[in-house]
Order: sequence, then C-alpha cells, then structure tokens
Amino acid sequence: MIRPFIGYGRQSIDDADIVAVIDVLKSDYLTQGPAVEQFEVALANRVGARHAIAVSSGTAALHLSCLAAGLGPGDVGIVPTLTFVATANALSYCGATPHLVDVDADTLNISPTSFDITAIDKPVKAALPVHFSGLPVNIRQLREALGEDVVIIEDACHALGAEDIEGNIIGSCSHSDMAVFSFHPVKTITTGEGGAITTNDDKLASELRRLRSHGIERDTERLSDDAFDNDGTLRPWYYEQQGLGYNYRMTDLQAALGLSQLAKLDGFLSRRREITSYYDMYFEDLAHVKLPQSQLILRSISGQHLYLMSIDFDALGKNRTHVMQKLRDVGIGSQVHYIPVHRHPYHCAMGEFKNEDFPVAEQHYASTLSIPLFPAMTDGDVEYVSGHIKKIFQ
Ligand SMILES: Cc1ncc(COP(=O)(O)O)c(C=O)c1O
Repeated sequence: MIRPFIGYGRQSIDDADIVAVIDVLKSDYLTQGPAVEQFEVALANRVGARHAIAVSSGTAALHLSCLAAGLGPGDVGIVPTLTFVATANALSYCGATPHLVDVDADTLNISPTSFDITAIDKPVKAALPVHFSGLPVNIRQLREALGEDVVIIEDACHALGAEDIEGNIIGSCSHSDMAVFSFHPVKTITTGEGGAITTNDDKLASELRRLRSHGIERDTERLSDDAFDNDGTLRPWYYEQQGLGYNYRMTDLQAALGLSQLAKLDGFLSRRREITSYYDMYFEDLAHVKLPQSQLILRSISGQHLYLMSIDFDALGKNRTHVMQKLRDVGIGSQVHYIPVHRHPYHCAMGEFKNEDFPVAEQHYASTLSIPLFPAMTDGDVEYVSGHIKKIFQ
C-alpha cells in the first residue's frame, strides 16, 4: 500500500465539519450571517474575551488591528524578526514602520530582555509580540516594560488554546489590547482561510467591525440625521460609510466550519501535545540535534503549532536541502519556520537591517527544520516519521 504524503501540518476534518458546511449551503446565508455571529460568540467565550471579530484571514485581522489602533505613517511598532512576514506587513500596510527585534534563545519569543528598548530612537506606538509555535509570550512583563501607552496586539496565530504562565488564556487580552488568530488549514483549527481579533475594548470592537465591511456604520446611535425620516423613523435602506474600510468579512460557510472545529479544540490540543511528548522523548539523544522550547515548563501549556528541530547541519555533514529531500523521498514533508523578516529584501531595504543585529534569529534560521505535527497523524504516522528521522541522523 502506498502511504499518503505526510506534510508538516494539515487540517483535521471529520463528518461533523462536513455536515456543518452543507447545512449552511442549504440555508439562506452564504456570506456573513448568523453562523459568523455564533462563531464569534463561541470564540470569545472560549478565550475569555468580551468580543471576537471574525475576518477573512489572520493577515486581515492583523491589518485591521493596526488600523483600529490608529497606527499610520510615522508610527513605529515592535515586531520580532522571527515570524511570518504577515506580522510586519500589517504595520507597513498602514504606512507605519516595523522595528524588528531579536528573540530569546530559550523561548524564541520576544521579552523585555531579548532587545534593547532604549536603543529605539523613535517613540514606540505599538508592539506585535508573536507566540512563536504557540509558546506564550509573557505579555504582562512586556506591558510593564513598554508602559500603558503602547498598543499591544498579540499575534496569536499559532496559539489558540494556549495559556500563559499565570493561567490567562491566550486571546483573553488580560494584558494586551487585541489578540489575532489565523484559521489557515495548518493552524490549530481551520475555516479554510480565516482569522479573528479578540478584544475587551468595546470601542475597538465596533471600529474593527466597521473596518471589515467597507467602513460602513449600521449602529443607529452613530448614524447622521440622513438615516432618519422627518418623523424619526429609521430609513430601512440606509447605510453610511464613515471611514475607509475593506471587504474582510468571513463567510457563513467558513464560520460553520470554525464552530464545528472549535468544539474539538481541546482534543486537537491534547493530540498535538501527545505527539510532541513522543518526539521529545524519541529525539532526546539524537546526535547534532537540539529541541527548541522542549525544556520549558511552558511547553505543556503551549499551542504546539510546530515541531521544531534545531540541527547542526555542518556536524551532520548534510545540508538542509539534502535532509529535506531525503525526507521527501520517503513521503515526509518538512519546512523552515521562518526566514526571519529582516532577511526579506522588502523589509531589509525599508529598515536597513543587518543580519548581525539578530544573532538568536540568525542561529535559529541556520539550523531549524519543522517536521510533521498535526492532530490527524496516526500513531503509525508518528512512528514512521520518527523512525525515518532517526535513520537520517545515525
Ligand atoms: C505568526 C503568523 N502571523 C500571521 C499569519 C497570517 O495568517 P493568515 O495565513 O491566516 O493570513 C500567519 C500564517 O501563517 C502566521 O504564522
């Protein structure tokens, strides 16, 4: 029997998910409708935030968060260089400047000690900490270091279901202004494409809702007099664009899938943690390999988005391309997370960044490889992947 290819990550879809989407297909709403509202309530309840605003992608969620925070030309936002480019791009979309910083070697997250805040020569208006691979950033410490005036937008795209060291659920925004999730198929739950912002701030929530739909306001309390007939009756056809917005709406098809997936979040997380523990034990003594984040207590409450290996390719005598090809030959996918943002020509040119300014991210980039980790992996898949990896390293 030919074994199906095992990618580094993929969605886990069951019959309940399929039925949920089919039900929407038979309903009156395909675009944003009642399922989006239900998904938002369920998500807000799950993470313990007052509001969740569902949008078309994690990237859209980041973009709108920056806009709602009022970021624009001349503003500076702190971004870890070790992230997907979308985190930095969100600031660039608004005309603001991403100030890239290095991460801590043990967590691969930013912290008040991973970079020198005093070396930033312009006032910092925002910070976009990333819970890298789902491992929670200590947002309280970051808040204390940055002060109350800096807007903190958590990039929690890897961290749905994770908790911080004080037991705050990621997305509850206990010490931040907003948190952003992605529901791309490799993430903890999926809606195909999709994302969401959570916040406890009523004003930010209504601004985010307005921005995701062309800047159109529907709240009667905020509409101009043109919305009403002379006798005060609300004109039923009326809508009003009060600012520049986008079409970043999530569809009901996506939200129905999201609701069905959210109900399985705990199961997804425990399977991710089970596979991670198995790998940690199996690879513990592998020559030329270190396992980032594996020694931390936080690992047990991480979202476990990726399984990262840190490989000394020189000592191994094989380069990364060769190792990836060897894995591919036996039907195993792997990936590099990430090419640091400062190495991308667009951002490098904008910020005049130098590789030597980011020693931890550089070291990580030189050695990292992500191997398959997703809940639908069977025990047989996990053993197959581990066995082949061990063979390559022996
Ligand atoms: C850290 C991080 N931020 C943002 C995004 C963007 O999410 P999306 O693909 O849903 O736009 C991703 C997606 O890979 C991500 O990993």
